[in-house]
Amino acid sequence: MLAIPPDSAVPGVLSATEMKVDCNDLIVSKTDTNSMITYANEAFCKYSGYDENELLGQPQNIVRHPDMPRAIFYLMWEHLKQEQEFFGYIKNCRKDGGFYWAFASVAPIYDNGRHVGFLSARRCPSENAIATLEPLYRKMIETEAQYGKEQQIAMSSAILWQAINKEFATYAEFALSL
Ligand SMILES: Cc1cc2nc3c(=O)[nH]c(=O)nc-3n(C[C@H](O)[C@H](O)[C@H](O)COP(=O)(O)O)c2cc1C
Repeated sequence: MLAIPPDSAVPGVLSATEMKVDCNDLIVSKTDTNSMITYANEAFCKYSGYDENELLGQPQNIVRHPDMPRAIFYLMWEHLKQEQEFFGYIKNCRKDGGFYWAFASVAPIYDNGRHVGFLSARRCPSENAIATLEPLYRKMIETEAQYGKEQQIAMSSAILWQAINKEFATYAEFALSL
């Protein structure tokens, strides 16, 4: 885990300052097929802290937070590769180093049957979900840190499935239940 200084606002330095997502907001972005941002709405700019012109053409992982397990993005891309929508909780990094949690859906977009990119809409998360997922994601990150690249996803996913399989068939079902 990275050491996070409290309330730092130095660009590039993580801080423990959370921006809560207003439940009236929908944070939307679109990407091309290479996951480069082609559209970001006002809410995306507000919560990420970037201007639209700083986002367009940038990779979508510009908002990636190091507290997010690799295994969650692996699961996301497995869904997208199979042309399925992904639902999940994501902690994103703001430009000022702070963060926000959101419940995201990510799906492929098509133009006349041709795959042209991806769309994501993120909304306010349930507090219960964050309380459950924060320690779970931490455990996954700690596990990923203990293994080499080839084993990280398998070992971390095993922890996720242990939590899910108690009651649910899929991560989406689990996430939606929280
Ligand atoms: C439409 C779309 C939206 C995405 N939204 C996010 C997001 O909000 N936060 C995030 O960390 N990754 C998001 N991703 C996934 C990133 O492209 C990337 O896979 C992830 O940040 C992991 O980055 P890394 O491979 O550099 O670790 C999104 C991908 C797509 C296609």
